[in-house]
Amino acid sequence: MIAPEPRDLLDLAVTVAREAGALVATRRPPGAGEPGIAVLSTKTSPTDVVTAMDHASEALIRSRLLAKRPDDGFLGEESTGFAGASGVQWVVDPIDGTVNYLYGIPAYAVSIAARWRGEVVAGAVHNPVSGETWTASLGGGARLDGEPIRVNDRAELRSALVATGFGYDAGDRAVQGALAGRLAPRVRDLRRIGAATLDLCAVATGRVDAYYEQGLQPWDLAAAGLVATEAGARVEGAWGAPADETLVIAAPPLLFGLLHDEVAELAGGLPTRS
Ligand code: IPD
Ligand code: CA
Repeated sequence: MIAPEPRDLLDLAVTVAREAGALVATRRPPGAGEPGIAVLSTKTSPTDVVTAMDHASEALIRSRLLAKRPDDGFLGEESTGFAGASGVQWVVDPIDGTVNYLYGIPAYAVSIAARWRGEVVAGAVHNPVSGETWTASLGGGARLDGEPIRVNDRAELRSALVATGFGYDAGDRAVQGALAGRLAPRVRDLRRIGAATLDLCAVATGRVDAYYEQGLQPWDLAAAGLVATEAGARVEGAWGAPADETLVIAAPPLLFGLLHDEVAELAGGLPTRS
C-alpha cells in the first residue's frame, strides 16, 4: 500500500463536502420549520430522525469519493461501511445536526474525514449556511476558510464557555442533563449548538473554550476531532483513554484537566446503547 498525500485527500474532501453542502442547503424549503422536511425514519430513538437529504447527501459523497479513489473504503452514518483495499477509509457524516436542519436552525454541517491505516490524516467540515469550511491535515495545522486557527488560551473553568450535547436516548439525557446542571454554576456558561462537528470546530476557532459529550460516533468525531487537535486542543476521553463513544473532551491543554475532573464520571455512568 502506498501512503497517500494527506493534502490530496483533504482537497478531495473539501470539494465533495462543498458539493454535498450545496445539495442539502438548496433542497431545503426556504424558511420552513420542522413540517417542511420529510422524515424518512427514526434510528436510535423516536427523535433520532433521518431525512431524505441525509441519504441523498451520503449517496453523493460516496459516489464522488469512490469515483476518484475506487480502492478506498467508506464508513458513513447512513449506509453499510466497508474497509477497501487501499488503506484509506473515508468517514462521513452527510448531515451533522439533522434536527437543526429539520427545524431550519442554521447550524448543520457535512463532515468528511480520511483515515490512513486507521488514523485520521485529513478532515473537512463544511457549514453550507454560513459557507464556512474548517480543514485539517495531520501535522499540517487547522484552518477556517484557508486561515490558520487556534484554540483559546483559557486556563480556568469559571470563565470558560463550554459546549456540550445530549444523546437521543431519554435515559442518557437524564444523566447528561444532571451533570450539565452541576457544571453550569462552575463555568461562564454552557452551549448546546446541536452539531458535534461544529462544537469541535468552535473549540478550534476559539468560539467556545471547550466541549465535552458522551455517545459520539466515528463520523461525528473523525474530521472535527482532527481540526480541534491541529488547532491546539487536547482531544481525549477519560483518564487518558482515546476520545470515542464513551466520552470526548476537547479543550486547551491548561483547561483540559479541570474539565476532565468535572465530567469524567460520564465515562462510566451511562447505560450502553443497544
Ligand atoms: C448529532 C449531533 C448532536 C449531538 C449528537 C449527534 P446527527 O448528530 O451532532 O449535536 O449531540 O450526539 O448524534 O444525528 O445530527 O448527525
Ligand atoms: Ca448525521
